[in-house]
Amino acid sequence: MIIASRVLVNGKLYGNTEYVATLISQKTGGDLFQIKTEQTYPGTHKELIDAAKKEADGKVRPKLATHIRNLKDYDVIFVGFPNWWYDMPMPLYLFFDEYDFTGKTLIPFCTHGGSRFSQTEKTIASLEKGAKMRKGLAISRNNVGASETSVQNWLQKMGFGQ
Ligand SMILES: Cc1cc2nc3c(=O)[nH]c(=O)nc-3n(C[C@H](O)[C@H](O)[C@H](O)COP(=O)(O)O)c2cc1C
Repeated sequence: MIIASRVLVNGKLYGNTEYVATLISQKTGGDLFQIKTEQTYPGTHKELIDAAKKEADGKVRPKLATHIRNLKDYDVIFVGFPNWWYDMPMPLYLFFDEYDFTGKTLIPFCTHGGSRFSQTEKTIASLEKGAKMRKGLAISRNNVGASETSVQNWLQKMGFGQ
């Protein structure tokens, strides 16, 4: 997925959600998997906003380019996304259609510009009824660069990370 916003940490450039995912992976020792689409999204903010709105309004399901081949090896899955138009980006719907997380623990996280999760935690729970959902973490895009402590505290509360 194209990176719509960026955060610079220790000289490295990340997308907001990508950075939080990296922190989670570092602190839990978990593998990183990037949900990518076949199509590319516009690189400028305004164009991306419009493209995402069109997709959401049309309930478009953009095809995914990456697939998890060994889901059975994982019991706990953190799923992160940016809040787009008070919802998950449409590719996330396809992601939840593609996999059955029954019996697994799903932990959502998002980055946002003020809307936090909107209704997305409920949406995920309804799409993955057999999964055990944990309370997610929503991080404002203004705090992403300084979010390491809150990510760590959240993980520790759930019993993950050092
Ligand atoms: C297409 C689009 C729609 C967005 N819609 C919302 C929104 O409805 N509510 C909100 O709080 N932030 C919204 N944002 C802001 C993003 O959630 C925020 O910038 C996020 O941190 C981007 O993460 P990323 O760098 O991983 O793409 C939107 C951003 C984009 C590009």
